[in-house]
Amino acid sequence: GTEPSSQAGASGVHAASRAAIPARHLRTDRWWLAPACTAAGLLAFVVYSTWRAFANADYYHAPYVSPFYSPCLAQNCQTMHGGPNWEIFGPWWGLSPALLILIFPLGFRLTCYYYRKAYYRGFWASPPACAVAEPHKKYTGETRFPLILQNIHRYFFYFAVLVACVLTFDTVLAFRDEHHRWGHMGLGTLVFLANIVLIWAYTLSCHSCRHIVGGRLRHFSKHPVRYRLWGWVGKLNERHMLLAWCSLFSVGFADLYVYLLATGAFADPRFF
Ligand code: FES
Repeated sequence: GTEPSSQAGASGVHAASRAAIPARHLRTDRWWLAPACTAAGLLAFVVYSTWRAFANADYYHAPYVSPFYSPCLAQNCQTMHGGPNWEIFGPWWGLSPALLILIFPLGFRLTCYYYRKAYYRGFWASPPACAVAEPHKKYTGETRFPLILQNIHRYFFYFAVLVACVLTFDTVLAFRDEHHRWGHMGLGTLVFLANIVLIWAYTLSCHSCRHIVGGRLRHFSKHPVRYRLWGWVGKLNERHMLLAWCSLFSVGFADLYVYLLATGAFADPRFF
């Protein structure tokens, strides 16, 4: 049938109880532009990061280690210590060490409230935009497997904090030169500084973080410290989407920067 509301057993905007509007939507603006840009941006990052994660090469150039490869947990790592940070995976691990660690930031971003919105719209068109009905017949939201797993976001947040601590340590080490002497500063040091600030801002602006900090309290007046922290996190949280994109770009750029140094395509300009 052409009448959406007459579809037997239909739900959502096609349900019998909804107004029978034949048009697919009534928006006259370019509503498809935002989801199309989102999909293109995410796809570009996925292609780039997949290539780099599997490359298993060119991820270290003293004193910088690519954020995709840190912390290094496999014996086959080639980093500033001449090996892994923690050798949890022995010689039997022959694949790229990035694959062991990227699962955590990947899981954090995949289950992030903002990225969920972004890829539900950009890739699944579920729905593609406000007031534009999705093409799918049924809608079950995040109530069933596999989408119910989105609820583990909070646990990925804890891991993301650990990874951010490691990247902070890497940034501190970027103030040493290749002979481990302190007082070095190159363009790479600034790239790493900008990246770690954005990574922390994104991580702390997380909706789960906001709930961990200020949720489940009956009276804010009895918890002044948490109330204040909650206010700060809330300020960052308002910018969560912007921080998601900026930190995605900066982490990719920091990796690209190390790649260019490691392949000899570029020499790190030094200030000190
Ligand atoms: Fe986006 Fe937690 S909601 S990182």
